[in-house]
Amino acid sequence: MEKIEIDGLHFDILISSKKILNKVDLLFYQLNKKYQDNWPLCLIVLNGAAVFASRLLKELKKSVHVSLIKVKSYDGIESTKHISVEYLPYDIIKDQNILLIEDIVDSGLTLNFLKKELKKHGAKNVECVTLLFKPSKYKYSVDPEHIGFVIGEEFVVGYGMDLNEKGRELPSIYKNIIHQN
Ligand code: IMP
Ligand code: MG
Repeated sequence: MEKIEIDGLHFDILISSKKILNKVDLLFYQLNKKYQDNWPLCLIVLNGAAVFASRLLKELKKSVHVSLIKVKSYDGIESTKHISVEYLPYDIIKDQNILLIEDIVDSGLTLNFLKKELKKHGAKNVECVTLLFKPSKYKYSVDPEHIGFVIGEEFVVGYGMDLNEKGRELPSIYKNIIHQN
């Protein structure tokens, strides 16, 4: 399946499922080499990162503390984006090293909000592993520490990522085709 349509928008394949799985294995290898017997507390940022995280953590042979974060972002007046926390396990983050698991870092608002929020509540160190990173849209000076694929500005779906809750189940990642005149 090279081309798909969701809610009237057209998408082309960007990253095949085979390439994704190879990359997730590589990311796991790199993280495991770095953390060895001292894996940080892993916090999966829902909903988008659930598919990526379950594959990433599948090979863990040791007991690692894993929990979830759910944030809601919405556009306020004058298109200022606001973020509010729906779920965050505040009681377990004090003095912890934390690895945030993200599907995609776009403007970076979510990631940088979470880093600040976790540190405010006593986290020692916060890093991020993200499957996708859009550097051209990123607005902060510190990049995510572990990146799977660097992509362009296009909106993507698949492998957990959605458009209006559609497309999460796709095993490959697709990018929106922007028509150029
Ligand atoms: P941020 O702009 O870095 O804060 O991105 C916040 C969230 O928006 C990400 O975690 C995704 O859930 C969602 N998002 C950003 N870009 C895309 C995309 O291209 N496809 C699907 N979701 C996206
Ligand atoms: Mg996300």
